[in-house]
Amino acid sequence: MAIQGKKILICVSGGIAAYKINYLIRDFIKKGAEVQVLMTPSAENFVSKLTLSTLSKNPVFSDFYSENGTWNNHVEFALWADVILMAPCTANTLGKMVHGICDNLIIATYMSAKCPVFIAPAMDLDMYQHPSTKQNLELAEDFGHFIIPAETGELASGLVGQGRMAEPETISHTIQDFFSSGKNSKNLVGKTVLITAGPTYEAIDPVRFIGNHSSGKMGFSIAEEAAKRGAKVILISGPSTLQSNHSNIEIHRVTSAREMFDQVFNFYGNADIAIASAAVADYAPKEIAKEKIKKKEDELTIELIKNPDILKTMGERKTKQFLVGFALETQNEEENAKGKLNKKNLDMIVLNSLRDEGAGFKNDTNRIKIFTKSEEKEFPLKPKNEVAKDILNFVEEQILK
Ligand code: CTP
Repeated sequence: MAIQGKKILICVSGGIAAYKINYLIRDFIKKGAEVQVLMTPSAENFVSKLTLSTLSKNPVFSDFYSENGTWNNHVEFALWADVILMAPCTANTLGKMVHGICDNLIIATYMSAKCPVFIAPAMDLDMYQHPSTKQNLELAEDFGHFIIPAETGELASGLVGQGRMAEPETISHTIQDFFSSGKNSKNLVGKTVLITAGPTYEAIDPVRFIGNHSSGKMGFSIAEEAAKRGAKVILISGPSTLQSNHSNIEIHRVTSAREMFDQVFNFYGNADIAIASAAVADYAPKEIAKEKIKKKEDELTIELIKNPDILKTMGERKTKQFLVGFALETQNEEENAKGKLNKKNLDMIVLNSLRDEGAGFKNDTNRIKIFTKSEEKEFPLKPKNEVAKDILNFVEEQILK
């Protein structure tokens, strides 16, 4: 269990969502974590110290001094923790965190900490949408903190919208994921990773299209893995049934290569790493019939025109991006892959081998070989989520050199 033995410091601030922390503590304790709770004085209006200390099996503090006059050392709390979780994090606490307004025990502890910090905001919908909250959340992300976004639903005010603290299970999973992704987990904090995934569909008429069998699994696996490592992920996906709920992943769904091209270049300028795993259709019908094409002659000719090469254009427009392409070849595999590395101005290419039964498009496994201009590395047949780790480990080695 990834959380077993981990020291989790929970800082509770004064919002109605504080009551949910009871369930979260119970979950962490059940999974074998050590939990220490600190709270703001106003949080005491929402949840009692007795409940929190009974569940966490530790005394709970809300002030720099205890009733008997002893000092509650915030530095010790901060150094003790493997991870700090600010939950619920009110607009007030968030503002204090990012602007260094250190007027209570939880902010003093937060500012003394060196460990990763997770923030689960909770507030009313207008407060959540306020430019100051948005800016403060962005600042917190720039500090390398992990935001567990508020969810949408009915709020304590009776209004309906985004602002409700993420459910305890979501928070617990996020922290568990963080620990299970190992010591590399923070390497992509502060990086924006742009990923293309899935097939593209090129319309012939209102009901038909030219497509391919790509499922999007490889691209979605890379997106999940990059998000776990702290990256902000922009995932541009062609038609795929896959979903992702990871808070670091922003999915933009497209249909055709043209649409994928346009979305990619909405985000490419800010990307630090771009990975093109989509199986983009090379050609599209020159004209899309307005009405369903009726069956008439024995032969039907559809004129096709070349689609833009998204990856090649990324190579041409490269400024700071570390650019990764994929190659799927049936002959002269390595020669063709290396050719694409140069032709498309890539930093790295991943060759998908079709030699194995279980590898490729529709399958859950893949066998890859990676090439850069000066290195190459072969990997055995693995599940796609493991392949995603190999790819990102290789990328990290290159960019952190
Ligand atoms: N690619 C792209 N845009 C296209 C075609 C391909 O971005 N219009 C990207 C794919 O996402 C992949 C890489 O280019 O990362 C190589 O795709 P592949 O189909 O193997 O190569 P092509 O360049 O299309 O060449 P060919 O089909 O002739 O092998």
